[in-house]
Amino acid sequence: MSNELKFRIPKVLPYFTRFGQHWRWNVKSVFSAKTALQQRVSGKVVILTGASSGIGAQVASELARAGATLALVARNREKLDALANSIREFGGKAFVYPGDLTNFDECDRVCKAIEAEHGRVDILINNAGRSIRRSIKFTYHRFHDYERTMQLNYLASIRMAMNVLPGMEARNEGHIINVSTVGVQANPARFSAYLGSKWALEGWTWVAANEFAHTGVRFSSLNYPLVRTPMIAPTKIYKYMPVMSVDTAVKWMLDVIITQNKRKLGVFGKGALGMYYLLPKTSESIVNFSYQAVYEQPPENYVSAGMRSRGPANEEAQGHSDGQSRHHKK
Ligand SMILES: NC(=O)c1ccc[n+]([C@@H]2O[C@H](COP(=O)([O-])OP(=O)(O)OC[C@H]3O[C@@H](n4cnc5c(N)ncnc54)[C@H](OP(=O)(O)O)[C@@H]3O)[C@@H](O)[C@H]2O)c1
Repeated sequence: MSNELKFRIPKVLPYFTRFGQHWRWNVKSVFSAKTALQQRVSGKVVILTGASSGIGAQVASELARAGATLALVARNREKLDALANSIREFGGKAFVYPGDLTNFDECDRVCKAIEAEHGRVDILINNAGRSIRRSIKFTYHRFHDYERTMQLNYLASIRMAMNVLPGMEARNEGHIINVSTVGVQANPARFSAYLGSKWALEGWTWVAANEFAHTGVRFSSLNYPLVRTPMIAPTKIYKYMPVMSVDTAVKWMLDVIITQNKRKLGVFGKGALGMYYLLPKTSESIVNFSYQAVYEQPPENYVSAGMRSRGPANEEAQGHSDGQSRHHKK
């Protein structure tokens, strides 16, 4: 049975409201960021995934200082408890919801508990993530690299969104922030698994933004460059590269919460985006040149301490794994 197509007059007034708000909050973010943040989050319930470490941990404290009620999500309960206690010490509100978001039942359980205990969710920050740095030629027998990045970076984020969106839609307000990477614009070699999952996440974010544009629900992507967090620590070469500080990464996040802009992208990301559109083959050659020039011996074979492998038993010994970083952990 085919569906009958029906037409209705679209609501256009919300576009103008949104346009006015866009400029209002962008101006505020420049001239009175602290006040603007308080106005945006004070009394609001914020789910922050990946709160136990790196960018998430510091964002949590800043949001709590601005008056938000924080629902902190990650696997490590001890770290979440320590963070929540430090927030309570300065009078902030923080509650811990430990869970492994690669398990969708856990996503549902955490979201339901938060809605039941705090009444609603105003802002969802999908920040938990993992990365794998490995050339495609070393992943021929490691399909799970693709599965596990998709599982956390993409599917878990969508699962969380699916839990909170009905409430946001009903209240006609809400903000979902999906943390991505500038790799989506620059496409660096060795990150096919990680970037595939972040491309998927951004694709969903942009479609969602289009579908909800006539409502009060907003969606944003944050395209971070390399940030000095535990995530990149095991990759030796990053120690010698200029990377973004966690403080600056936190400012980016707070700015997106204030402005609700669709995307936060730095100069490098904008340049990379332009280059790929204008000179796609030249861009490819630049990335490939550096891929060929900089390699590891033995090939991509450094593994962070305590890493578990789901691959063939002796693949590390055979040089089929680099792993790196905690998000590079297996
Ligand atoms: N650092 C960078 O260079 C960089 C660059 C671009 C984008 N990003 C993105 O920024 C976000 C934050 O990264 P970060 O650098 O702050 O990393 P991080 O310090 O490694 O933190 C990752 C967070 O994700 C949580 N997490 C990992 N697996 C999880 C799971 N299965 N269930 C629930 N939580 C889980 C971790 O907590 P538990 O271990 O306690 O579960 C931790 O709190 C990520 O989405 C990342 O992709 C980072």
